[in-house]
Amino acid sequence: MANDEYEKLLREVSTYFTENYNFRNARRIGSGAYATAIAFDEYVPGKQSRKVVVKVALDADSEESIINEDKHLKSVRGAEHIVRLLYPNLLALSHRAIVIEYVEHGHWEDILGRFISGGQRIPNRILWGVFLCLTRAVIGMAWPQHAGANDQPKREQIQKDPPGRLAHQDLSLQNILVGIWKKNDPEHRFSPITKVIDFGNAAVLPPREGLGVITGIADNINEIGRVMLWLAIGHRGYEILDCEVRDGPNLPMRIIQSRAHYDLIDGSISDELRFLIRRCRAVDPKERPKLSDLLKICQNAVRNHTAADYTDLNEPWPQYERDDELDRLIQKFILNADT
Ligand SMILES: Nc1ncnc2c1ncn2[C@@H]1O[C@H](COP(=O)(O)OP(=O)(O)OP(=O)(O)O)[C@@H](O)[C@H]1O
Ligand SMILES: [Mg+2]
Repeated sequence: MANDEYEKLLREVSTYFTENYNFRNARRIGSGAYATAIAFDEYVPGKQSRKVVVKVALDADSEESIINEDKHLKSVRGAEHIVRLLYPNLLALSHRAIVIEYVEHGHWEDILGRFISGGQRIPNRILWGVFLCLTRAVIGMAWPQHAGANDQPKREQIQKDPPGRLAHQDLSLQNILVGIWKKNDPEHRFSPITKVIDFGNAAVLPPREGLGVITGIADNINEIGRVMLWLAIGHRGYEILDCEVRDGPNLPMRIIQSRAHYDLIDGSISDELRFLIRRCRAVDPKERPKLSDLLKICQNAVRNHTAADYTDLNEPWPQYERDDELDRLIQKFILNADT
């Protein structure tokens, strides 16, 4: 979109939300293929102001993607690790739009870029924190809560009833954002919360043969595995490889075909993390881990691992996994950056 066209869009959207919603201070924060994201401050009399994001379709052709996103965000609302829809499906003058919560610390592509320019890999214990957040988001998609816009989001839990088949289908590094850091929460001790955005491409998949109700889950697990692969190796690459995996600490090694990367064989990535990423990326969806196993493994790593679990890793990695070092890296590369 040309600059003057964009300025016009920004003006119109800004006028609409200033007049109808008490929004102020429009600023551009990001654009994709179909939509642009504009941040505002929302002032509600008697309440603290909050930052919100208006996602606007760029043209008539992309309206459909906003309408689709609106529908799916409404269904998954209430999930802690998925961006919250605040005001659904609006028409801001001629532009189709939705309003969602603002997630403050930007997307993982930028954060990964900062680690790399700083000459650092992301430590295992931070990666486990992201893996757990993304696993929770997958649970949130499997059992949509249909909560209200003002309901307090809840931590996603595996339910007894059969899961739905909603698949995000666009879990890229730009579509996972980092929010506030609740250090006192054991699940977020070494990673500020990661939340999934951009449901423009999401769909309830038809049941796939042999997978049935887990069709959507298996697809989402493959995609979060891809994100974890890229965060672990530091670049976006993969190919189909025969890979060694182990399903648990005392189980035998076996070989599966996986969309992984040679760089995952690296002295700074623990065996457990490497095996789990490879299993999520299994070419045969039936080889991917069960959601309950994925949750158990990530939870255990986040809650119970200490730097001592990483002393076998190559230099200079063991000290990078220390609590104080993780705190420092999170501050430096995630929280202090200008977004
Ligand atoms: N809630 C939010 N808080 C902070 N930044 C956001 C938020 N939503 C979007 N952004 C920023 O704007 C960018 C584009 O948003 P988004 O991914 O939703 O649109 P998109 O890529 O155009 O989607 P699509 O192409 O599927 O329509 C994101 O990558 C992110 O940098
Ligand atoms: Mg996007």
